[in-house]
Amino acid sequence: MSKLAMDGGTPVHDNRTRPWPSWPAVSEPQWEEHQRGFREVYFSRTEGLPQPRGRQFAKAFCDYLGTTHGLMTTSGTNALKLALAAVTDTDGLSYNGECIVPNYTFIASAHAAWEVGFAVRFVDVEPESACLSPEALEAAITPKTRVIMPVHILGCPADMDRILAIAKKHRLKVVEDACQSHGAGYRNRKCGSIGDAGCFSFQSTKNLTSGEGGFVATSSPEVYKLAHALHHCGRPPPGMTLDEPRAGYSYRPSEYLAVLLENRLKELDAQCERRNRAARYLNAELKGITGIRPAETPEYVTNHAWHLYPMRYIPSAFGGRPRAEFTKALQAEGIPCSAGYTDLVSDHSITQAVRKRHPELVAVEPCPNAERVCAESIWLSQTMLLADERDLADIPEAVRKIQKAFHA
Ligand SMILES: Cc1ncc(COP(=O)(O)O)c(C=O)c1O
Repeated sequence: MSKLAMDGGTPVHDNRTRPWPSWPAVSEPQWEEHQRGFREVYFSRTEGLPQPRGRQFAKAFCDYLGTTHGLMTTSGTNALKLALAAVTDTDGLSYNGECIVPNYTFIASAHAAWEVGFAVRFVDVEPESACLSPEALEAAITPKTRVIMPVHILGCPADMDRILAIAKKHRLKVVEDACQSHGAGYRNRKCGSIGDAGCFSFQSTKNLTSGEGGFVATSSPEVYKLAHALHHCGRPPPGMTLDEPRAGYSYRPSEYLAVLLENRLKELDAQCERRNRAARYLNAELKGITGIRPAETPEYVTNHAWHLYPMRYIPSAFGGRPRAEFTKALQAEGIPCSAGYTDLVSDHSITQAVRKRHPELVAVEPCPNAERVCAESIWLSQTMLLADERDLADIPEAVRKIQKAFHA
């Protein structure tokens, strides 16, 4: 039996000779395109307002998503803040009621809601997709609820038809957190285009990136107008007027970001297809290993964005060794991986800090499914899914090697 790399053996995957793809993907032809765009922006001396490039990208991304309106902003968190305030027609400067957020997500989903005056009610997720559970959602609605924030987590769409039906029944607004799901498809509709507004992050790890940045998409001119005012010191978009003056932040991005995004958007679908191919391969290979269970994709998913590739680890099939020991062994074999979100968002130190100072801003429903997802998950990054099959084959091989060693 071969010695584990963490015990001094030879790793299954040699990162020096076969490095995993790095992110963002770069190429000389694309650099030529970026240079042309940067040059145009630079010599036009229009690096910000009136944002001709930003508006051009917004149009391209809206066409891609199938929405009528959209605007670039400085981050996914700020996009969520703009959208939450815009769909509720508020300015975020006072208490606004409750926003329902799934308890398995990045802390920014909740933080955005707190920042624009919402209390957050954390709700359980579906056991497989780890997205907001429609049953748990409906049970959690209170007279204070105003907005639902489904998160298309790890690139997997939430069950939007069921969520929208609940929202309609209770007259609630829906803001999709699509920060991890660029290009994902729910019953052939793009994530981020289905609710009252959808929000994206272009932060550096994201499947579409400009280093930092964000986007609000909507098909409501009214929501667009208010989001625009909120991101631009209270000013409406050109050609539109506000009924009354509105408060507004300053969340406008640089024009250079739009150049990167416009060029990279052209590659998004091909990259997404490549990740899907890799995920199909890994699903098939890993299913055959007792104790490793790739997360099942719901039937309504017409395109998974695979921002992360999740699988579940069952210690009993690995000699009872805890997940932390397994991920350490896998990393030593040359397979980068992590346990992902190990805590419920409601248990996050930031949430605890918010709760201590403002107990009225945090409410938590029972979340047994989310607890289990936190306890069992292992993630591979989207970047690894861009590798070729020869490299991907090292993943199941390393898992088998570790299983054998843990059982010895
Ligand atoms: C689910 C989710 N929501 C919101 C955000 C916030 O995006 P940003 O980092 O661009 O503010 C992220 C970023 O990681 C995210 O993953």
